[in-house]
Amino acid sequence: MSEKICVIGLGYVGLPLAVELAKHHDTVGFDINAERVRELQSGVDRTLEVENEELKRSQLKVSDQLEDLKDRTFFIVTVPTPIDENNNPDLTPLRKASEMLGKVVKEGAVVVYESTVYPGVTEEYCGPILSQVSGLELFSQIKLGYSPERINPGDKVHTITKVTKVVAAQDAETLDRVASVYESVVTAGVFRAASIKVAEAAKVIENTQRDLNIALMNELAMIFDRLGIRTVDVLEAAGTKWNFLKFSPGLVGGHCIGVDPYYLTQKAEQVGYHPQVILSGRRVNDNMGSYVAQKVVKLLIKEGRNVKGARVGVLGLTFKENVPDLRNSKVPDIVRELKEFGMDVIIHDPYADVQEAQHEYNLTPVELEQFHDLDAVVVAVCHTFYKDLGFENIISRLKPQGVVADIKSLFIKEPERSDLTYWSL
Ligand SMILES: NC(=O)c1ccc[n+]([C@@H]2O[C@H](COP(=O)([O-])OP(=O)(O)OC[C@H]3O[C@@H](n4cnc5c(N)ncnc54)[C@H](O)[C@@H]3O)[C@@H](O)[C@H]2O)c1
Repeated sequence: MSEKICVIGLGYVGLPLAVELAKHHDTVGFDINAERVRELQSGVDRTLEVENEELKRSQLKVSDQLEDLKDRTFFIVTVPTPIDENNNPDLTPLRKASEMLGKVVKEGAVVVYESTVYPGVTEEYCGPILSQVSGLELFSQIKLGYSPERINPGDKVHTITKVTKVVAAQDAETLDRVASVYESVVTAGVFRAASIKVAEAAKVIENTQRDLNIALMNELAMIFDRLGIRTVDVLEAAGTKWNFLKFSPGLVGGHCIGVDPYYLTQKAEQVGYHPQVILSGRRVNDNMGSYVAQKVVKLLIKEGRNVKGARVGVLGLTFKENVPDLRNSKVPDIVRELKEFGMDVIIHDPYADVQEAQHEYNLTPVELEQFHDLDAVVVAVCHTFYKDLGFENIISRLKPQGVVADIKSLFIKEPERSDLTYWSL
């Protein structure tokens, strides 16, 4: 059947999906953020996930008007699923989106959730809200589906059409409808999961597994640092075995890898299991910003420098390379700790929006020209911009015998030098 689709929440996940769907279906993209809607209507995507030209060419109708949702037969919800200050899942955006949808959804419609959640949220939390507000019965009058998103912001290779999409629904007929919508855009095909809960669990463990593997690398990096051997060298050697998994140490930020495991652990606690492995990985990863800052301090002391008042330049503020996404970045942890030692810290990022950085973290990125006479430089995010800038350019901004802390080993292959201290995680 031909569906009239609506994607709710036009962020990193929703917009690329809506633009793809609009190539094949009558599609409305809806967002409550009026400023985002105006920008998209004028053909500008500040997340850089969709090229402005493509957005302008797209048949997608972008709206913040509920009226535009009333004739839709197929809804896809891609709103945020954050955690609160106590690391508990915050389902408010999902609740609000479901309440809003309840006001427009008609009998026979399918509502597919894509937001990352713990098993049970679609059927036990969102579904009942939809049903209550709409007055329609689940199963018989409104059908639920779930299809986790695997988008990797900034990655132009593993895009929505090229990665297998897991789909799930409440019954076989609905699953066919859900699969056929996604099959129309995902050339890599769909995988029909056994149930909605299975699909929810699959997504949350994809990110939990990644989080834990990185935590292990971070722990190893801290051990090897004490042993005086380089983690990259160890990983390169171990990586020659066929079943050694290739992960590397680093900061785990963003609103997926470092957040989603808490969705699973909270649900686990609810059913009487107290997760140990998952939470210990979280603790290791959450502590890395502080570890890096303390390492910089130790290296400066070793060079005989005054820590108080030392000038430190931090390159990169976003949560990962080549994206403007500042959410849950761990770089501010490094900055905070360095400042607590009385250092004078400046930050640069080619992608970060200055106002957002001020609003989110009370930090103001500066121009690169201000990076001079530094005691230490922290290469925190390996934006291609810094790779292109080059090691020589970066170290030219240091005082003699300065310290370079290169978190992701971007410049590890540079020849050793006696006029500076180079350290990587
Ligand atoms: N970004 C990723 O890498 C990624 C990858 C896989 C899965 N996910 C998951 O996808 C979901 C969305 O993530 P995102 O990165 O696209 O988030 P985002 O913050 O970039 O976008 C969410 C959008 O939803 C809008 N919104 C919020 N509440 C709304 C409502 N009630 N009605 C309509 N619009 C609303 C916001 O204004 C925003 O534009 C999350 O559950 C996330 O965990 C994200």
